[in-house]
Amino acid sequence: MSVNFDLPYFPRDGLLQEVLRVFESGLKQGVTLFAPRRQGKTSFVKHELLPAAHEFGWRSYYVDLWKRRGEPELALVEALEAFANHRGLRQRLRLKEVKSKAKAPGAEIEATLEPGGHRPDDSLENRLDAALSALVKDGVTLLVLDEVQSLAGAKREDFVAALRTVLQKFQGKLLVFYTGSSREQLNAMFRKQRAPLFASTMAVQLPELHDDFVDDRLAFLAQRSVATVSKREFVQAFDDLGRTPGFFNELVLHLIIAGDGDLGKAMNAWRKAHVEAGAGAQLESLRPMEMAVMQLLAMRDHPSVYSADAAEFIKRSIDDAESVTPAKIQTAIKKLMRLDLVAPTGKVAGDYEIDDRAILIQLREGLL
Ligand SMILES: Nc1ncnc2c1ncn2[C@@H]1O[C@H](COP(=O)(O)OP(=O)(O)OP(=O)(O)O)[C@@H](O)[C@H]1O
Ligand SMILES: [Mg+2]
Repeated sequence: MSVNFDLPYFPRDGLLQEVLRVFESGLKQGVTLFAPRRQGKTSFVKHELLPAAHEFGWRSYYVDLWKRRGEPELALVEALEAFANHRGLRQRLRLKEVKSKAKAPGAEIEATLEPGGHRPDDSLENRLDAALSALVKDGVTLLVLDEVQSLAGAKREDFVAALRTVLQKFQGKLLVFYTGSSREQLNAMFRKQRAPLFASTMAVQLPELHDDFVDDRLAFLAQRSVATVSKREFVQAFDDLGRTPGFFNELVLHLIIAGDGDLGKAMNAWRKAHVEAGAGAQLESLRPMEMAVMQLLAMRDHPSVYSADAAEFIKRSIDDAESVTPAKIQTAIKKLMRLDLVAPTGKVAGDYEIDDRAILIQLREGLL
C-alpha cells in the first residue's frame, strides 16, 4: 500500500517556544535543528514555525537544499533569486546592480542584464548577496534552510564562508533556521570550511513524541474504524517502529483500511510495504564485516563498536574471524558513514547509530 496523505500533525511540545525565545533574545541569528531522517524536522517547520512567522508578520522563505544536492550552492542562489523575482523585485535588483557597477572606479554601466537580474559572469557569491539584499527589507525576514548538510557537497570551498558573511551582514533583520539530518556531512562541512556557518547559532533538539501522541492516533483511529486496539499494544508498536511518527501514521492507515483492529497483521503489512519499497536495498552491496557492524548497531543497548564484546559479536557473524581488528572495524564504520547508513551519535566519542530508522527496524526484526 502506498500512503499518499498525511495524518494530522501533532505539535512538538515546547519546541516552537524555544526557537522563538532564541530569535527574540537577539543573541543568536540562527537556530539549528539536527535530527535523524524522518523524525519530523520538515513537518515542524511547515506546521509550526512558518505559520508562527506568518502570524508575526515576518516574511519567510523556505529552501530545501536536498532536492538539488548535486549543486546545492546554485540551488540556494536560484531559489533566493526566484523569491526576489516573485516579489516583483526584479526591477530593483537590476537597479542595485547598475548602481554598484557605476560606483566601481572606472566601471561602465552595463546595458545588458540577464532576465534573472544577474550577468552570466557574475559570481555566485555576488548573486547570493544581491538576492538576499532584495529579500531582506524592513521588518523581520526568516530564512529556512532545510537539509543544510547538502552544502557540504558544495564544489566551491569558499561558498559556505561567503554565505556566512552575507547572512551576518543582515544580522538584526534576518533570522535563519537550519535543519540537518546527516551529521557525517555536517562534520565534513565544519572540517572543510574556514568560517563555520553555525558559530552564530543555537542548537535545539527535536523533543521526542510520547504516549500523548499515541493517544492522539488512537482517537483518530477510533473516529474512523469500529475496531479497537489496546493502548498498551499501541505504545509498544510505536516503540517497535523506532518512535518514528511517519511510520506510526502509516501503521494507523493500515489499521483503518483493514478495519479489523489486528495490530500484528497491520505491522506485517507495514513491513511488507517497506521491504517492497527497497528499504534495505543499500545493504546488498555491503561486505560481511560491514553488515556485521550494521547488525551490531541495530541491537538495543549495543556495546561500543571498538569494545571487546563488539569484536566478539563481529567474529561470530562472519566466516573470516581472523580478520577482525580494530583497524578493520574502523574502515567498515568509515564506509558505512560515507554511505550515510550510520552516523556518530554525538553523545559519546566512538558511539554510532543507524541513521535510517526503516533499516534499523528491519535489521532488528531480522528481515534484512
Ligand atoms: N509531529 C508530527 N505529527 C504527526 N506526524 C508527523 C509529525 N512529524 C512527522 N510526522 C510524519 O512523519 C513524516 C516524516 O516527517 P518529516 O518529513 O517532517 O521528517 P524529516 O525529519 O524532515 O525527514 P527527512 O530528513 O527525511 O527530510 C511526515 O510525512 C509525517 O507523516
Ligand atoms: Mg525533511
